[in-house]
Amino acid sequence: MHLFLLSSVLLGALLVDAAPTADEITYLPGLKKQPSFRQFSGYLNVPGGKHLHYWFVESQKDPSSSPLVLWLNGGPGCSSLDGLLTEHGPFLIQPDGATLEYNDFSWNKIANVLYLEAPAGVGFSYSDDKDYKTNDTAVAHNNFLALKEFYRLFPEYSKNGLYITGESYGGVYVPSLAVEVSQDSSINLKGIAVGNGLSSYETNDNSLVFFAYYHGILGSALWTELQKFCCKEGTCQFHNSPDTECSLRVQEAMHDVYSTGLNIYNLYENCAGGAPGEIRDKGDHIAVYYPGFLSPKVHVHFEKKLVLLANIEKPVKMDPPCMNSTASSDYLNDLFVRKALHISPEVNRWDVCSFDVYRYYGRVYETMKDHYLKLLSTLVSDCRKYISVVGFYFSTSNVILYRTVVNFYQVTI
Ligand SMILES: *[C@@H]1O[C@H](CO)[C@@H](O)[C@H](O)[C@H]1NC(C)=O
Ligand SMILES: *[C@@H]1O[C@H](CO)[C@@H](O)[C@H](O)[C@H]1NC(C)=O
Repeated sequence: MHLFLLSSVLLGALLVDAAPTADEITYLPGLKKQPSFRQFSGYLNVPGGKHLHYWFVESQKDPSSSPLVLWLNGGPGCSSLDGLLTEHGPFLIQPDGATLEYNDFSWNKIANVLYLEAPAGVGFSYSDDKDYKTNDTAVAHNNFLALKEFYRLFPEYSKNGLYITGESYGGVYVPSLAVEVSQDSSINLKGIAVGNGLSSYETNDNSLVFFAYYHGILGSALWTELQKFCCKEGTCQFHNSPDTECSLRVQEAMHDVYSTGLNIYNLYENCAGGAPGEIRDKGDHIAVYYPGFLSPKVHVHFEKKLVLLANIEKPVKMDPPCMNSTASSDYLNDLFVRKALHISPEVNRWDVCSFDVYRYYGRVYETMKDHYLKLLSTLVSDCRKYISVVGFYFSTSNVILYRTVVNFYQVTI
């Protein structure tokens, strides 16, 4: 009995000490009241001189029994701190770019949430050689190594179930990482969740045209022609059609969707800044508004412009269209905030998306089908584990897409 008590006490002491104290956020600027839960910010070092920034918020419920949730925003090249500060973090950035308000719908009400800025070159993450050329397979592997490093620093969480989650291009990051994690028996992978994610360029393009038409975005003349040139016997192929007449109409439809000022992430929201166009000279820099999940073939002319931009002297910044990240970047670039988050002096400034990471990124997968099939066979065979793929409003996120996806994976729901 005494021995048991003693060892529990010792174990308890070990558990408390396990977290890296140097990374603990002791005071976070912008909050009226400091939080009651613990939070950490620092770097997960990965071989190859890569330093991936993480911000970890412990559960408000009971950290020792709450699951661990890893969150990844997309891009490729965009920062997961966008998810923390504007979506489901414990506090949300206010328009003044200086204050934070507690979020009633924070995921850390019931989970320990790990926000990881990946790959190197994104947000506060960097590599010693500053070479940010990477690809889907390298990213999945480095994220896996970063997760292992997290467990080394916080061993007390290795017994808690793990959920890997993300959105947009996270539709590629999440299942590719999950496959690697599922092969490691030391990690208790419980499930994955993808919101508004990219799963297949073909399914994305094909469903988007229907979604746009049924939401009244495409005119009936264009719709008639799309059907005439792209559809046969009730099946339409809008993606990469070899038929020139079809692909011209698809380009027109894509223009209506992407370039007329609609918010492509959420049809029911305004587009901050109005119709973004594709590239804008902002005086001290060139801004590129590019929704990274598009099939590169859809915007061939745009890709050509990107190549030309490489020769321009001004710095190039990439922003997702219709989003306004000014408040987040004002906050995160504040010197006191950087200090509170233990940001390396190696990093210049925080931007929501990295043009360098995006520009040199190698997309390996046309579709994530094989990954899902592998995960379905390992995860779903255990009923307590699950995969969740949701999307509602628009291009990477439309309902029609997910109906197709469900058929595609032959899953019964
Ligand atoms: C991805 O990047 C890794 C590491 O740089 C490299 O070894 C690999 O060949 C790349 N894969 C592809 C398909 O480009
Ligand atoms: C973006 O947000 C900032 C501050 O939060 C605001 O001052 C600015 O007007 C906004 N810009 C647009 C284009 O909405």
